[in-house]
Amino acid sequence: MREKKIILGIETSCDETAAAVVVMDEQNQFKIYSNIVSSQVKIHTPFGGVYPELASREHSQNIIVVVEKALEQAKIIPEDIDAIAVTFGPGLIGSLLIGITGAKTYAQLWQKPLIPVNHLEGHIYANFINNSDIKYPAIGLIVSGGHTLLLEIPALGNYKLIGETLDDAAGEAFDKVAKFLGLSYPGGPALSKLAESGDDTKYAFTLPLNRNDNFDFSFSGIKTAVVNLVNTLGGKDNLTQKQKADICASFQKTAVDSLCKKTLLASKYINAQTLIIGGGVSANRLLRQRLEIESQKANIKFLKPEIELCTDNAVGIAIAGLVKLTQGKTEKSENIKADPIAQIV
Ligand code: KG4
Ligand code: ZN
Repeated sequence: MREKKIILGIETSCDETAAAVVVMDEQNQFKIYSNIVSSQVKIHTPFGGVYPELASREHSQNIIVVVEKALEQAKIIPEDIDAIAVTFGPGLIGSLLIGITGAKTYAQLWQKPLIPVNHLEGHIYANFINNSDIKYPAIGLIVSGGHTLLLEIPALGNYKLIGETLDDAAGEAFDKVAKFLGLSYPGGPALSKLAESGDDTKYAFTLPLNRNDNFDFSFSGIKTAVVNLVNTLGGKDNLTQKQKADICASFQKTAVDSLCKKTLLASKYINAQTLIIGGGVSANRLLRQRLEIESQKANIKFLKPEIELCTDNAVGIAIAGLVKLTQGKTEKSENIKADPIAQIV
């Protein structure tokens, strides 16, 4: 039996300032004591995307408030914490630096060990709430605004890249199509909401990289196909709401078809026992439904994060930190550096 451990996680890689307190109990179960996310959506909305300078400024204004709230909601004091985990990358350099500097300052002030965590690993570990008994090998699908990766996971914390996007990330494609159609920011959730009232058979888009000999993705072609279709329909200013809904539904179906096809293909290839998804696009309802059905057919256990843990948060960072803490993977403050292009493998 292990000792109970409490960790403070800090995440500031993009446009969410997040802090969470997570506990690993004596039975190795993870429990969320607090999960605070301060979203900057309103600030970036006028720009239709994340404005990096504004993101850094907001993080620096919010970080202390968010950490204090996380401790308060968890009903703990700094003395109760065993370690501090912080995202070191990938992400926006200015944003990462605020989180890292904050974590280093608290670690120095409270005399706590520091654990650097890869943001993408945090998306995987968001699944470990209520699920610490995971069968390996597992297959990991990370689908976010910046990444689309298929990972072979032979064991806990061990990753091998077996597929990735050759151009746009899945979330990026959702966001760009949504922006083109004039939907609200952020585009992914707005597009999938409108798609619910659309007919996904109305427009047929070609399934990208539709072959069985690799696990890579491509999303920029579907995006261009949407633009071309809209031009043949008379331009985006002349679309009816029904046409927009049908385009969203057809686009979403093609993107989800592609994600499902390659994920299941890769799962079979590595003989995966478990499928783990993470990242903002894993909140997509159609993707979750489709993977549920497909993994059941293939007899693979399917893990998806709670909806609020799909997009950026500090819970996954905290859990990854707890796992690393038990493995003794703490790091000296001076060795922790922001890495905007950090790889998970
Ligand atoms: O993981 P995340 O919060 O940030 C990154 O690490 O990039 O992912 C954000 C991405 C955005 O592209 C957003 O549009 C997309 O996730 N997203 C969705 C949905 N919810 C968020 N995409 C499709 N359907 C959704 N329901
Ligand atoms: Zn993310």
